Amino acid sequence: MTSRDGSAWWQRGVIYQIYPRSYQDGNGDGIGDLQGISSRLDHLAWLGVDAVWLSPIFASPMEDGGYDVSDYTAVDEMFGTLDDFDALVARAHDLGLRVILDFVPNHTSHQHPWFVESRSSRDAPRRDWYIWRDGTGDGGPPTNWRNVTDDRPGTGWNHDEATGQWYLATFSPVQPDLNWANPEVRAAMADVLRFWLDRGVDGFRIDMVSFLAKDEEFRDETDLPQGDGSGYVHDARYHFNRPETIAHLREMRAVVDAYPDRLLIGEMTYEATIDTLVDYAADAGIDLPTNFGLITRPFEHDAIADLIDTYDRAAADRGVWPNWCLSNHDTPRPTLRGAAAARMALVLLLTVRGTPFVYYGDEIGMANVEVPPERRDDPWSTSVGGVTRDSFRTPMQWDDGPTAGFCPSDVEPWLPVGADRDAVNVRIAREDPASTLLLVRRLLTLRRERPELATGPYRRVRGAPDGCLVYRRGDGDDVVAVACNFADTAREIAVEVSGAPPRVLARTGAVDVDPHEATIRLGPDAAVVVG
Ligand code: NOJ
Ligand code: CA
Repeated sequence: MTSRDGSAWWQRGVIYQIYPRSYQDGNGDGIGDLQGISSRLDHLAWLGVDAVWLSPIFASPMEDGGYDVSDYTAVDEMFGTLDDFDALVARAHDLGLRVILDFVPNHTSHQHPWFVESRSSRDAPRRDWYIWRDGTGDGGPPTNWRNVTDDRPGTGWNHDEATGQWYLATFSPVQPDLNWANPEVRAAMADVLRFWLDRGVDGFRIDMVSFLAKDEEFRDETDLPQGDGSGYVHDARYHFNRPETIAHLREMRAVVDAYPDRLLIGEMTYEATIDTLVDYAADAGIDLPTNFGLITRPFEHDAIADLIDTYDRAAADRGVWPNWCLSNHDTPRPTLRGAAAARMALVLLLTVRGTPFVYYGDEIGMANVEVPPERRDDPWSTSVGGVTRDSFRTPMQWDDGPTAGFCPSDVEPWLPVGADRDAVNVRIAREDPASTLLLVRRLLTLRRERPELATGPYRRVRGAPDGCLVYRRGDGDDVVAVACNFADTAREIAVEVSGAPPRVLARTGAVDVDPHEATIRLGPDAAVVVG
């Protein structure tokens, strides 16, 4: 639905990511599920987000938390039933919330019946639904392509005893890559999209979007000289970001466009350049190719200011819309940088131009939880930023009970609950005017009250004191200014919006306003929105 200023709902909106296993247990088995999520949608409507993106809920052996699908049109028993899903969509829509599913097209689980059939013989009808090749003469893998979880040359390929060939698995050996060059595969996946679109979903987040097509000549990749600027260690041009991928994505776009107002988010690689991000939006029809810049760049003034300026300009030049996130189920929570810096980062996230993604729990400042080795579930990434992926997938903290209100108090949750649940939980935060939760809610309210904050142009204010990022959103009389102090000592800034003395609309950290002088003093990690 477009608004008066011509923007789409997802340009004005804020997307909230839920990791379904950890949001709310509805049936008392210690694992989050769809009924649980439905029962918590009121929290999200109260908070003021516009859409929920659910990490995968499809049938899966859960060797990669559901990113290993064994049936794309079934809900995993762990999460409930299709009826539960329909009820969730209906409840969300009643509350004005959209529902985005996580589509995993690059690979299936090795237990998917398609793969079981494909590997059964060289003549199997679905043999060519996956990527099978002969090894090299000396018995090695067909090419030196790596998998994402093991950087040694050739690990992308797995030898299969039964038929003597190798199959490609770009993420991990239990997640064989589908062969997108095969039109039958593309048709089957289009049917999957339609299945969920017909049930009312409002869009998809597409997993590993740049990997779908592979070089048809299967050429080896070469090591790149250090510092070529791409961020990649190996020249993986034969393995991903293939031009054919763009064509596949356009086909997906066409399927989705048969339904009005649907959103496509594409998971880009963490190394993707700004040019690649805007290309995927402009050429492939991916509305929001995920920008991980706030995760991968140092959280320092110069790096962040440069990122925002460059990305904003590139997006405007190509007529596409930016997007931002601070974390997700693959990266540590922003509190890794400290609670105050995390709050400042949230102000930035929710006021810079582009659709923000908020990862569940970040709105209350949840920490990265230390999960003892015997309780860990995620096998693939043993260390991201010094913690395992389990650390930022722990149960949502609703209250200060033994299981934080996530599941019954006498049931052990699937991952341990953060030890800080007494202090960091929704119930307490709702009553505390200084909480991260109420800051986020305030910013989400402001985005509606002052639409320039959501869709207005971005302009950086030059000449701000060292370490202070100051920008304006909007045009003419409708202007909001934002200042964030990255420096480790206080800074004084002069802020004037539309000739009037500064009026603080939202703040975090030490903020002192001198209305007579029109100056604002910001302590370290403080941020202010003025309008
Ligand atoms: C990216 C997902 O975000 C991650 O969690 C998953 O492990 C891989 N893709 C494989 O699907
Ligand atoms: Ca459950």
